[in-house]
Amino acid sequence: MCGIVGYVGSRRAQPILLKGLKRLEYRGYDSAGIAMFTDSGLMVTKCAGKISCLEQLLTGDPADSTHGIAHTRWATHGEPTELNAHPHADEKGEIALVHNGIIENYRTLKEFLLQKGYHIRTETDTEMLVHLIRFNYKGCLTEAVRNALAQVDGTYGIAVMSSMHPGVVVAARMGSPLVIGLGDGEHLVASDVSAMLEHTNKVVYLEDGEIATVTADDYRITTIQNVQITPQIEEVTWTLDQIEKGGYDHFMLKEIHEQPTTLRNAIRGRLNFEEGIPRLNGLNLQYDQLRKIQKVIFTACGTSWHAGLIGKYMIEELARVAVDVEYASEFRYRSPILGKNDIFFAISQSGETTDTLAAMREAKQRGVTVLGIVNVVGSTMARETDGGVYIHAGPEIGVASTKAFTSQVMVLSLIAGLLGRMRQLSPQAGQELIEAMQKIPDQVEKILKSSDQVKKIAEQYYRANNFLYLGRGINYPVALEGALKLKEISYIHAEGYPAAEMKHGPIALIDENMPVVVIALKDPVYDKVMSNIAEVKARNGNVIAIATEGDTEIAERVNHVIYIPETNRFLTPLLSIIPLQLMAYHIAVMRECHVDQPRNLAKSVTVE
Ligand code: AGP
Repeated sequence: MCGIVGYVGSRRAQPILLKGLKRLEYRGYDSAGIAMFTDSGLMVTKCAGKISCLEQLLTGDPADSTHGIAHTRWATHGEPTELNAHPHADEKGEIALVHNGIIENYRTLKEFLLQKGYHIRTETDTEMLVHLIRFNYKGCLTEAVRNALAQVDGTYGIAVMSSMHPGVVVAARMGSPLVIGLGDGEHLVASDVSAMLEHTNKVVYLEDGEIATVTADDYRITTIQNVQITPQIEEVTWTLDQIEKGGYDHFMLKEIHEQPTTLRNAIRGRLNFEEGIPRLNGLNLQYDQLRKIQKVIFTACGTSWHAGLIGKYMIEELARVAVDVEYASEFRYRSPILGKNDIFFAISQSGETTDTLAAMREAKQRGVTVLGIVNVVGSTMARETDGGVYIHAGPEIGVASTKAFTSQVMVLSLIAGLLGRMRQLSPQAGQELIEAMQKIPDQVEKILKSSDQVKKIAEQYYRANNFLYLGRGINYPVALEGALKLKEISYIHAEGYPAAEMKHGPIALIDENMPVVVIALKDPVYDKVMSNIAEVKARNGNVIAIATEGDTEIAERVNHVIYIPETNRFLTPLLSIIPLQLMAYHIAVMRECHVDQPRNLAKSVTVE
């Protein structure tokens, strides 16, 4: 959740660290800090609040240093205060450390350290780690880190520096991602590659249990048991313009508008029109293995879980294979029943979400094939799965997921089409699906042109305290996702419901102050949804309908209609979600909320 960046080289470290930190701000943004190596020892500057506050503190103090570490925090233990912000230093101020993760046995460590005479100053778990390193220090920083980590239970990505070791950063990973960037006469360490793209695209991903000793000219990786590792250098394909706003006011708006492109990327090279069979070689499964699948299990969190739910509707109907969709955090503690012909998919934008990773590892341990539907290339999930499909959405910086969601759904439709063709779908039906998929990016482009209309509707309702989102069938998960988008970035209470469930409870909430967003497309449940709309209208609710182009009848029955083009009914979520993303965005802007970095949230949830 937090962002770590470290630099060691010959250039001034401070601007490099601050810029890197800003690139990572989406990971956590409640407090920030930096430690620099200077002639007079370690200089640590911290503040509560965003990186801009840290910058203000630093302007009058341009430390001429080529070696430092920095951190942007998402608080777990201890409030987001200056004191609790990272880096944490030992009592002599000679060792400084930044940490992402949770030290689970910090209470035991605290008792131990207090007994040894250390003074604990903060409410954080992290502080124990820096004292522990000091306690283990006998002249070698790497050894001190190694011995300290041997006493630690929990998760960490850390970067450590010491005034006793100028030009050295020691980094270690257990559960929280860390990557080393390889430059010319300089090296970086960061939680993800976006912090280093300006300087290099050559990286080495640290694995769990590895420690790296990094200097300007060299880096050495060993395991926590001190076994030397031969690093695997990888090339990052993301570009700098992909992680910049490119003229948009917010990353979220940019990412919403990128969807025609990202959807094209999701299907590029994967559509086989002749046979009507999607090509997904990364699954590493032969056709006869696909035919034997008994059950598909999707595990994910948040928006990715909503995508999985849409996948269930697609796969069960197109391929007649049973699909379970599990919250990752529930899966691992539930003792789920898994068969040897079941296939487990982890769905994740970041590929780092702790709950999803843990569920995935649990499934792996139980011997089922574990696949990934992941965005971030080189992420932990991408590396630990037996195969999978990259969604190719490019970097998603806005905390509220938009383009990753549609790309996940597109990939799930490819999987559904493939499984369908292996089982019961005719070549013609497969071809029709593929043809419809190919039209989706242009159709999304068309819907994006309705942004001003959506904005006008948003103007009428942005002061509401509650919203209800209704959908049925495959558009029920879209209602959930629309509600999640709104609550995440505008802090309006919003609930998604299967339209017919409304009368079993939520209908009590409906009055003239309750905007109700209904996805009412021309599909097999259209008439049923129209009845649900009538129930809302009969109670003075205001209905905003997402409807199929050409449906003029609906306009007379609701307060507002936003039209989307017609497509294959299994692909409708790819279109119906677009106005809901736009609506959440416009409402959040009108409420003056921090769209890209909503309160209390972080992009990549790497704690349990
Ligand atoms: C989406 O808008 C959310 N920020 C959140 O629900 C997110 O989808 C969830 O944390 C899962 O993340 P992942 O896809 O990176 O695993």
